[in-house]
Amino acid sequence: MLVLGIETTCDETAASVVEDGKKILSNIIFSQVHLHKKFGGVFPEIASRSHIDKMIPVIEEALKEARVNLEEIDLIAVASQPGLIGSILIGLNTAKALSFALDKPYIGINHVEAHLYAAMMGEKNLIFPALGVVISGGHTMLLKILEIGRYEKIGTTIDDAIGESFDKVASILDLGYPGGPEVEKLAKTGVSTRYNFKAGVTKKNPFDFSFSGLKTKVLYTVKGQSAKKHFSTIIKSEDKKHIAASFQRCAFEDVIKKSILAIDEFDMKAIYLGGGVTNNRTLRGMFDNKNLPIPLFWPEKDLSLDNGAMIAGLGYHKFKKTFKSDAFDLLAQTSIANF
Ligand code: KG4
Ligand code: ZN
Repeated sequence: MLVLGIETTCDETAASVVEDGKKILSNIIFSQVHLHKKFGGVFPEIASRSHIDKMIPVIEEALKEARVNLEEIDLIAVASQPGLIGSILIGLNTAKALSFALDKPYIGINHVEAHLYAAMMGEKNLIFPALGVVISGGHTMLLKILEIGRYEKIGTTIDDAIGESFDKVASILDLGYPGGPEVEKLAKTGVSTRYNFKAGVTKKNPFDFSFSGLKTKVLYTVKGQSAKKHFSTIIKSEDKKHIAASFQRCAFEDVIKKSILAIDEFDMKAIYLGGGVTNNRTLRGMFDNKNLPIPLFWPEKDLSLDNGAMIAGLGYHKFKKTFKSDAFDLLAQTSIANF
């Protein structure tokens, strides 16, 4: 079954053709990073307008690279939530129009769930129950994966997402946008134990996360107590690398500690990790150093950040479970609640 996957939830316009949920025939990603850089974050209106410009060329390229005609596509899978509503509507309406014109079904896919599926795409045999770890710009979640499409939420962030905190720390340190890769790069040259930062303690649920206090501690360290983001720094510029390294270690130790706790508590047989932060090689190394007794699965190249392949791949499985969207729905019915 050939599935066309469409992704426009944030600042990537992406399309991909995937066969039977696994074989990636093409994976085209147009990143808007250069358009948003000067604002230090995603500017929603600019994002929507760029999706309009790029949607059709990106789909055409995905079909061309896959050597597939539009008429040969069996299903259109589109990321329908969560994300920027103006951006989502571009991909969603494109999927609906294609569905209507080609008389082919379409399905709405949860972007966060697709991030988890990205780590499963390269695997022949999936192992369940497994711990799902979503670490992205918008989400930080631990889930029990019973099978594809059946999950139990274990913990989530009560304030900032981990990727968001990387972006904010990068901004405090005057690094570029998106911040995650810049923090990782700078952290490589720093001493990660120089600053004793701590992730937030969550009272209700030991598996929840809190990164807001950690980010504020970095702000106070760099700009002084009661500082605002635009205040001048009170640290030496060579301290920046130690701050980046210490922040990164602290954030990742928190994710790893809670993941290990969840494996024991819920008797997990494997870990699947997804989301933009899984791009970070230091994190992968830190997990490896733990020598966990169960296998860890990471998204392969080009599947960590937002992409259409993970949407097409998951779309195949959801469709096979007879989950369908009506071409005239305003938004498809998938939601984080039933995901
Ligand atoms: O999954 P993603 O593309 O978008 C969402 O679904 O939110 O994740 C983007 C996030 C950004 O916050 C970015 O700074 C972070 O992933 N990120 C990283 C790295 N590469 C991207 N964070 C830490 N280290 C990286 N190498
Ligand atoms: Zn994403």
